[in-house]
Amino acid sequence: MVNKIKNRKETILKLLYRADGGTVSGVKISEATQISRVAVWKHISAMKQSGFAIDSTPKGYALSNPGDLLLPFCFDPPVREQIYHFQEVKTTMDTAKTLAREGAPHLSCVVAEDQTRGRGRLNREWISSRGGLWLSLILKPSLPPPLVYIYNFAASLSLSRVLNQLFDVNVSVKWPNDLLLGKEKLAGMLSEMETRGDMVRFLIIGIGINVNNDPGNKEFKAVSLKNILKETLSRKQILIAFLTEFQNTIREINCPEIINQWKKQTSTIGSRVRVETFDKIYEGRAVDVDETGALIIEDDQQNHRKIIYGDCFHA
Ligand code: BTN
Repeated sequence: MVNKIKNRKETILKLLYRADGGTVSGVKISEATQISRVAVWKHISAMKQSGFAIDSTPKGYALSNPGDLLLPFCFDPPVREQIYHFQEVKTTMDTAKTLAREGAPHLSCVVAEDQTRGRGRLNREWISSRGGLWLSLILKPSLPPPLVYIYNFAASLSLSRVLNQLFDVNVSVKWPNDLLLGKEKLAGMLSEMETRGDMVRFLIIGIGINVNNDPGNKEFKAVSLKNILKETLSRKQILIAFLTEFQNTIREINCPEIINQWKKQTSTIGSRVRVETFDKIYEGRAVDVDETGALIIEDDQQNHRKIIYGDCFHA
């Protein structure tokens, strides 16, 4: 029964998606799904309740923003095979881990419309309001754990490049992997890994991008693309461009080259920073990021300090 309802919803969504924003009549949907028009109306009401942006008019039904739909059938192969889409999960990090353990391949991408327990770095809550792009990439590299940091740098490098190209904005990367638009946080990244022996079993890179949402982060000043560009954007376009760019960036793992490219995108080097680690706070001027991804800061006594993990705030 549950599967039947799911299949009907998917049939309805496919019909609406293929109409590309045009109206599909209740009669057409009722014929395709073999249910009454009243039942169509009920299904569509339930779908609206669960967050699908569907307009109802006397002539029928239409998706308000078809480019924003992230169901696998909206993507062409090979991206289609990479996408695992969920309406609501606790966090895509845990869903991705379960799928990775069950055999989901390298470069699978878990996307959710809603996260009820989204998490950020240093155990912070990540508020995942609707309209954002919340995803976790499953990576299964043949690398020892100390080298996987490079994937995080490749991810923030790729995402900043793609957003700048698509929207002609000036997104920069803040060490280690946040994306800023001006001084405000546009996207955050979190990575978690499981090892087997001395090799990586899988790495999950979670990425939260403020796209069409109104971010309400209490601790950081956050901003969405919609806030800046004053229009609703296609999360699908962003996702496809990011996955393509990321795969190109990691085709050959050349750590110094990826870090060098990343340095061209960062606004951290040269800024006065405060870095909070689990047990300490460091202040100074960020002078470099070394080949291992560590941040080098110079304190007021000109001492250099190397920081491998923490949250960085620009003054
Ligand atoms: C941070 O800046 O602290 C990292 C935020 C990471 C948020 C993303 S949203 C998708 C994935 N699922 C989560 O629960 N967190 C990451």
